[in-house]
Amino acid sequence: MKNIGFDIITIFPEIFHAYLGESILKRALQKELFDVKVYNLRDFTTDKHRTVDDYPYGGGPGMVMKIEPIYNAVKAVKSADYKNGLERLTVMLSPQGKAYSQEMAEGLSEYLARENRRMLFICGRYEGIDERVRESLVDEEISIGDYVLTGGELAALVIIDSIARLMPGVLGDEESAREESFTWGILDYPHYTRPPEFMGMKVPDVLLSGNHKEIWKWRRREAIKRTLQRRPDLLKRAELSEEDKEILEDINRGLCSEE
Ligand SMILES: C[S@@+](CC[C@H](N)C(=O)[O-])C[C@H]1O[C@@H](n2cnc3c(N)ncnc32)[C@H](O)[C@@H]1O
Repeated sequence: MKNIGFDIITIFPEIFHAYLGESILKRALQKELFDVKVYNLRDFTTDKHRTVDDYPYGGGPGMVMKIEPIYNAVKAVKSADYKNGLERLTVMLSPQGKAYSQEMAEGLSEYLARENRRMLFICGRYEGIDERVRESLVDEEISIGDYVLTGGELAALVIIDSIARLMPGVLGDEESAREESFTWGILDYPHYTRPPEFMGMKVPDVLLSGNHKEIWKWRRREAIKRTLQRRPDLLKRAELSEEDKEILEDINRGLCSEE
């Protein structure tokens, strides 16, 4: 067994079963390309009420997730790591973490490409998690965006989904991740399928031409154009070829002459 996958500590395990039981990820799990183990945090409590939260020191609204059950859960998940030669990255989901990106997804999929590597996600709820968890148990704190969710479960799923689809064998050729937004550091080109005309809206002629060189040029130009219009910040960082730079200058000239 390759032992590549994701472990999750949560108080809502069912959320994961629902999403991972459908479509591409379901198929990948059936093919054992990686595995996902979900741990119910309440199983690691020691009191009869299975308490995972408590009032915040210093007062204020809401509850805070306690360190003891999380410590017990992390220890239990990691207990056999050393014996099995396993390397593991422990991630805490938090709106205060490092902003997640396609680049991070690519780095993490490379990290997991080696055998005996796993990621462990700690999902917060309520007002958040006792700060000592971050200080003592966590390698990375990750945010999936500048907004606040009710819990870390969706964030963990977003990260797992984006990494899994980059793993070998997860996507079929027809679902390839090769030419997508951010893969080249810019946004994807527009897509069309049949019919060639719908309520007067036509598919660009070049896509029906069968001329692959011209189709490639059109797509590259459209990708650069929409990145310039929607996300100029990406273009500043993207590695553009000489041909791309010419396309960009040409688009800029066109936009200037329109003004
Ligand atoms: C209501 S939030 C707590 C927010 C916290 N009081 C703050 O302002 O930073 C509860 C949990 O949801 C998760 N969460 C919320 N927003 C997130 C985001 N943007 N990215 C990742 N996790 C998030 C975290 O696990 C967090 O502990």
